[in-house]
Amino acid sequence: MIKVEGVTKRYGPATAVKNVSFNVERGEIVGFLGPNGAGKTTTMRILTGFLPPTEGTAAVGGYDVQKDPIEVKKRIGYLPETPPLYPEMEVVDYLRFVARLKGIEAGVIERRIDSAIERTAVGGVKDKLIGKLSKGYRQRVGLAQALIHGPDVLVLDEPTSGLDPKQIIEVRELIRSLAGEHTIILSTHILSEVSSTCGRVIIINEGRIEANDTPQNLTAQLQGAQALQLEIDGPEDEVLRRLRDVPGVNAVSCENGGGRLICRVEAEKDADIPRRLAETVVNLGWGLYAMQSLGLSLEDIFLKLTAHDEAPAGGEAAAEPETAEPAAAPAGEESE
Ligand SMILES: Nc1ncnc2c1ncn2[C@@H]1O[C@H](COP(=O)(O)OP(=O)(O)OP(=O)(O)O)[C@@H](O)[C@H]1O
Ligand SMILES: [Mg+2]
Repeated sequence: MIKVEGVTKRYGPATAVKNVSFNVERGEIVGFLGPNGAGKTTTMRILTGFLPPTEGTAAVGGYDVQKDPIEVKKRIGYLPETPPLYPEMEVVDYLRFVARLKGIEAGVIERRIDSAIERTAVGGVKDKLIGKLSKGYRQRVGLAQALIHGPDVLVLDEPTSGLDPKQIIEVRELIRSLAGEHTIILSTHILSEVSSTCGRVIIINEGRIEANDTPQNLTAQLQGAQALQLEIDGPEDEVLRRLRDVPGVNAVSCENGGGRLICRVEAEKDADIPRRLAETVVNLGWGLYAMQSLGLSLEDIFLKLTAHDEAPAGGEAAAEPETAEPAAAPAGEESE
């Protein structure tokens, strides 16, 4: 459905996107995950035909974004970072305006408006001024304008940015409900967003793709090892030595926590290791008070993959899993 091959985008001397290639199959929901300035918006703008690539090609439904921009725009609904809304217009008038702009035939315009309103559940506010809507509802109207012409593909740039936690959940559910009939690419720098919404994640950092896989595989792939934490009552030197001797264990470090040793054990991914560790501790007559698995989260992986990013001013990248980031969305939300 979407084919991006060797796309590079330079702004003067700066390269925003470096030799990016990926495919998206029909019906997939793919998340672009990356910190501020990673190149997510630039890639999306190229894909939607709003920005020409410096090098490389992108195609949607078999149509090249540069050679057939009109065919591409028919097939794509785009929700930019700042939705192109007019605060002084009423929702339904605005959607009618967008529908005409997109060249929808007069005979079907009202039907398309009704369907977009229904899909995005904005019926209750359809006669309100956009400027008076809450941010969550404005985002829904932004989605309604993106899908009014019935595109195969939706490209959503940070669709939950600036929303409160309840609105985030609602918009995510809305996106999931659109998934059946649309192929969706969304960008975010909130990790829980991709694991909760997307079937595949493309991690992008400093203009490059660092990973492209399912959230589950990404976790597993970087988890060739396992980490465990044990709480032990025993002599530190001896504990360290004996745990390191357990077959399959690669590294052990301990620290004192409230009179007990808190030990972190890194080992091969072998289901038998917890049992061996427990036996060792118990056989030596020490107390074993707790043992837990320290799984690598998607968050760890993201940080690991983007570790060489120097994170300037607003580099809150993965810090907030559930809440919307405060940095985005400037005051005015006029059209782009
Ligand atoms: N019109 C432009 N002119 C010059 N540089 C630009 C332009 N647009 C973007 N850039 C630069 O390209 C890089 C990638 O920006 P982009 O907006 O694609 O990142 P992003 O991943 O969408 O970030 P964010 O999470 O902050 O939205 C940044 O370094 C940015 O400063
Ligand atoms: Mg962006």
